[in-house]
Amino acid sequence: MKQFHSFRLDTVNHCLWRGEERVSLTPKAFDVLRYLVEHADRLVTQDELLAALWPETYVNPEVIKKYILGIRKALGDPRDKPEFIETFPRRGYQFVAPVTELISGAPLGECINGAGKMVGREGAMAQLDGYLDQSQNSQRQVAFITGEAGIGKTTLVDAFHQSVANRSNLRIIRGQCVEGFGGKEAYYPVLEAIGQWVREAGGGQVVQTLAKQAPTWLIQFPSLIKAEQREALQKEIHGATRERMVREICEALESLTAQDPLVIVLEDLHWVDPSTLDFISAVARRRGPAKLLVLGTYRPADLIISKSPLKALKQDLVLHNLGHEISLERLEEPDVAEYLDIHFPGGSFPDGFANLIYRHSGGNALFLVNILLDMVKRGLIAQVDRRWTLQVALEDIEPRVPETLDQLIEMQFQQLSPYEQCILRSASVAGERFSVWAISTAAEIESSSIEDACERLADRLQFIKAAGINAMANGQISAHYDFRHSLYREVLYRRLSEVNRSKLHLLLAQRLKEFCDPCEQEQATELALHFEAGRDFEQAVHYLILAAKNAAGRFAYRGSIEILRHALELVPMIAAGKRIQLEVQTLVQIGDTNYASGNMTDSAQAYEKAASQAAQVGLGAAQVTALIRLAHPLGLIDVDRAVAAVEQADQISASLNDPILQARTQILASCARLYYHTWRSRDAELYASAKETIQRLSGGGQYPEMHYAHLHPLQGGYQEALKIAEDGILKISETTNTVAYLLALGAKSVALMHLGRLGDALHIMRTAIERAEKNGSDPWVLKIREAWLRTVAMDFEGAQQLCETMIRSNSGYPTGQPKAIAWFAAGNAALSHAKYNEALQNFRQVIDEDVTPKFFLHWYWRTLAQLGMANVWLASGNLKNAETEAKLLLKFTLSTADPSLQALAWEMNARLAIAGKDWGDAEKSVQNGLAILTNFEIPMAAWRLHGTAWDFYRQAKNDNDKAAETHRKCAETCILKIADSFALDEPLRATFLAAAPDSLSGASCLRES
Ligand SMILES: Nc1ncnc2c1ncn2[C@@H]1O[C@H](COP(=O)(O)OP(=O)(O)OP(=O)(O)O)[C@@H](O)[C@H]1O
Ligand SMILES: [Mg+2]
Repeated sequence: MKQFHSFRLDTVNHCLWRGEERVSLTPKAFDVLRYLVEHADRLVTQDELLAALWPETYVNPEVIKKYILGIRKALGDPRDKPEFIETFPRRGYQFVAPVTELISGAPLGECINGAGKMVGREGAMAQLDGYLDQSQNSQRQVAFITGEAGIGKTTLVDAFHQSVANRSNLRIIRGQCVEGFGGKEAYYPVLEAIGQWVREAGGGQVVQTLAKQAPTWLIQFPSLIKAEQREALQKEIHGATRERMVREICEALESLTAQDPLVIVLEDLHWVDPSTLDFISAVARRRGPAKLLVLGTYRPADLIISKSPLKALKQDLVLHNLGHEISLERLEEPDVAEYLDIHFPGGSFPDGFANLIYRHSGGNALFLVNILLDMVKRGLIAQVDRRWTLQVALEDIEPRVPETLDQLIEMQFQQLSPYEQCILRSASVAGERFSVWAISTAAEIESSSIEDACERLADRLQFIKAAGINAMANGQISAHYDFRHSLYREVLYRRLSEVNRSKLHLLLAQRLKEFCDPCEQEQATELALHFEAGRDFEQAVHYLILAAKNAAGRFAYRGSIEILRHALELVPMIAAGKRIQLEVQTLVQIGDTNYASGNMTDSAQAYEKAASQAAQVGLGAAQVTALIRLAHPLGLIDVDRAVAAVEQADQISASLNDPILQARTQILASCARLYYHTWRSRDAELYASAKETIQRLSGGGQYPEMHYAHLHPLQGGYQEALKIAEDGILKISETTNTVAYLLALGAKSVALMHLGRLGDALHIMRTAIERAEKNGSDPWVLKIREAWLRTVAMDFEGAQQLCETMIRSNSGYPTGQPKAIAWFAAGNAALSHAKYNEALQNFRQVIDEDVTPKFFLHWYWRTLAQLGMANVWLASGNLKNAETEAKLLLKFTLSTADPSLQALAWEMNARLAIAGKDWGDAEKSVQNGLAILTNFEIPMAAWRLHGTAWDFYRQAKNDNDKAAETHRKCAETCILKIADSFALDEPLRATFLAAAPDSLSGASCLRES
């Protein structure tokens, strides 16, 4: 540790100390200061600083000037007669104050408790030391330091921080809760602490560990991630949950503290957000070894007001011995006497002075400090002949001291100039740390002199202190100040009249909005806060919606919904014209967040309400949007209602004079009917013409909706479907919409499956299922696809088992679809064991609409079940029944546009004809089927068709051995290609190869060849 004048440069914890006070410096300003101090013997050029501190980025040299200015301010270094940093114009800077090295291991703790400035608190310090010792033995510790405002919680933490700062390898990181952010900015203080750590450590091990063990956290620091890494990370964390985020940070912290101890200080938890509480709770409850100490401070009285669950959490942790509480009491009279001794060394005060100060302050440290400061300022205590003495009689002091700290602060405020008062009033609205820029909003403040006025106040130790020159959200740089204590701000803020307060908030909000234009999403919480307090509820709701999206981005879905519910509470206060519109927007967002997190019922409810509200006031477009969205959750839980919703949207949009919207709703309505009702060429045509309209109206650009990815396969367009799904996945992977992402992966795997790339499809499903399970989200969509794939690969038992676990899992999704697939698989399994009655019964359950309700593509499965029935009748020798089924099958499939289904139907009819030795009909069916293959790549039907064609040419005895052999080879090639799409050791490969020849006569060629 380096010392110069009264400052100490703490290179272990990257901070600057003046006595017991931590001087606020941004990490970069600290780096600049550190570099100069470490090269104090010589001039450091600008280029050298740029090369050392910004090695990989171009930085305008002007920035250095700003940082030097900030450092000077923090050090109180006069520009005209510098004591610390000398400027050599156009050359560089030199640190000129004498620097001494503090021997590492010097008893800093003694320094604080002895010659330092904190009095009392020996017991609390000993407790903290004890917790640190235990944590260094790998027993994680969580402790809360509690007590009223100004009692000395932060002082205790600072003293502890300083006393252990020079322990080798110990890291201390700190995060601060912000009033008004509670519940809106998930993990705010934890992210601040980790962010500080990561930046100060210059990445390295911390970033590597986060990348490996906590990608959901690393992604919260975009500046640390390289562009190419980002995409992989996004994929990895898709569908993550709150549980995963908490678990990841715990695991990462456990790794990082396996060797070196870490202290995390979380200040002012009375303003904490629920996600941070989850974090604290998890850290306390996990059992593994960790050299980790988490210290939180809070005011218990404020918890009662905010009804924060922290109170219950603390009680529970303490009760179960998982956490400790250090409840700070007020200082005692001897502490006050000691304080006087330390701060007024050699002072000569009359007997009873300490008692008087003790009585007045009630032992509240902040009050005590203020009483004394005030007395010094007013000359009641003064230095005479280098000795501090009381300038008035003890009895005369009594009436001059206000009874409460609030009154004292109020009195000090009244003594300021009107201009200073005006600045502080605005500052109290801007926050505990404020920028000069932020307070130049109030019209009556002359902005150019604000900084000078702030500087004067800081110099006089009144209300505020300098916090350096920092970059703001948009990169602009401004001087910042902190209130010396949060209570000062609170008192000033409370004394503002309601009208004034909201006026100032509104001014600030409007300015922030203008200035934050490109980064409004990041600043949403702050903007919402000021607009709400400024009573511009329309803007407040707008920004609350953005803040809710931010929360969802951190997987804090619960928090996100809470923000939106709060927005709904503000809606009635919005002027009539805009009220419903914003209510609808909020409800739609509630629907989106619930949908993204897999909560379909609540999602549908919110969209439904949005649609009905919009309908009431004739907001047609908003109603249409809400109805379209409503179809998404309903499509998974109640398909008839999903179709009704899009049909209603379609009807309304017809009257809106918005041809693109109309075409879009036509697409959705026709798709919904095609997916959920049955195939009808009318709908397919409507879909095609609406798509054409959109392409024409939007300048030919593709309209990238995932619906297309599901529709193309029904027309044999598997390659197109694959492309659409891949594009969609890229786009959706940037959001946190887990369900949409899984659906897109599902669409991709289906396209691959139809293309015979079963192995690739299986790989996507398995990875996504594994990831979703790791993330705690439900991979239902992909499990259904896997069951589908197993039926295609003829692993009927596997498909059945998978569906049965889904039915049992009680996932909240309807069971119609897994049941249908299970019956279909069971039917095929029974057929392969010649259990014909059982097979028929199973296939019938799939077809019967009373047993199997509608679901996505239910008619597709019913068609396959009908094919199954025909196969059973054929296998059991009932050619008549087989024919009835096969004809029905053919009729229906020919009414669709699905080449695979049609090919399978022709193939069925061909086999029937072969069995009945009707060679003319067999040839016709074979030829019709083969004709489809010339237009479509349908490998899953092709191998069966070729197999049957081989059988036909072989059995028809028309001496066409060559044709027979060609088809045999084609069937074999197709089968092997499909089998080879699996990894060699994938059991499904063998299942497919073994089952293919047995299951259908067409493929028996392989057995015989
Ligand atoms: N033990 C102490 N010895 C000397 N001074 C103290 C002590 N405790 C507190 N102070 C003084 O009182 C002031 C207020 O204390 P501090 O900021 O630590 O209170 P706090 O409990 O953190 O309040 P809040 O709840 O508002 O955060 C400090 O600035 C410090 O000057
Ligand atoms: Mg504090």
